[in-house]
Amino acid sequence: MDARVTFHDHAPETLSLYDAVVQGLSRPRKLIPPKFFYDDRGSELFDAICEQPEYYLPAAEHALLNGCAAELADLVGRGRVVIEPGAGSLKKIRLLLEALQPGAYVPMDISHTFLKSAARQLAAAFPWLPIHAACVDFTHSMPLPQQLPEGPRLAFFPGSSLGNFHPPEARDFLALIRNTVGEDGMLLIGVDTKKPAALLDAAYNDAAGLTAQFNLNLLHRIQRELDAECEPQAFRHHAFYNPQAGRVEMHLVSERAQALRVNGHRFDFQAAESVHTECSYKYAPEEFIALAAEAGFVPVKHWLAEERLFGVYLLALG
Ligand code: AVJ
Repeated sequence: MDARVTFHDHAPETLSLYDAVVQGLSRPRKLIPPKFFYDDRGSELFDAICEQPEYYLPAAEHALLNGCAAELADLVGRGRVVIEPGAGSLKKIRLLLEALQPGAYVPMDISHTFLKSAARQLAAAFPWLPIHAACVDFTHSMPLPQQLPEGPRLAFFPGSSLGNFHPPEARDFLALIRNTVGEDGMLLIGVDTKKPAALLDAAYNDAAGLTAQFNLNLLHRIQRELDAECEPQAFRHHAFYNPQAGRVEMHLVSERAQALRVNGHRFDFQAAESVHTECSYKYAPEEFIALAAEAGFVPVKHWLAEERLFGVYLLALG
């Protein structure tokens, strides 16, 4: 491996898929947390979703980051240690590296092999950049690698990943970021906005069916990794905007009465009963700024895509 890449493995601290399935399917309203989407296959499917025309988020954010990179360099300065929780394929940071010239980059992701190969590819393209990749379940804690250089920190949390947290947990997570970056730290975050339901419904029901595959991959993981008796073909993808809650919800709906069995446990489904697999909360700019303020952040500047389609926010500590 490249001398400028170090790899740190913290994944074993996480709740296992087995525990999450047994706990989540035992509830009166069945659920499985969205972080279990991201095995290698799920991470690939998510990348493919990001190429779909209906899933407007990545293109809107890409344009905003491209447009503000030079201005960002003035506002945050060069040489920061950039920490990115849930970094995935490490594509978005590429838009900022030349402008920000970080002293080091710390991508964190739950998917081990996916992160490793993405870090190698990034190192090949940016040989001057020290990379400290950490396999971490960041929803749980954010342990930093030991040998990070000194220097002020910048957390980078793009893609509206914050939307996966319920608002109180989103506030707690922002506070965890605040503690991780420290006094002179900053946060650059991309958050999706509230908008007409038709646009949101289309974004989570792409015509090519990739979001459906992504959602159903969870059942394939359960079948494969837990050796469960489970019929993914007997479930369907269901995603819709819930305007009262301000979130898109994804569910796996049982097409008929059936049982899913895993290691001596049996979970019964009625026809049309669902497993809730994801919430993607949407925030009007003023709502997000108020939430960030509750976590101790003050807004420095924000950039909105046309028709307020998406927001990128630079925040500092109050
Ligand atoms: C990665 C959590 C931002 O909620 O839009 C994409 C995941 N789910 N399509 C989102 C997702 C369905 C995505 N996040």
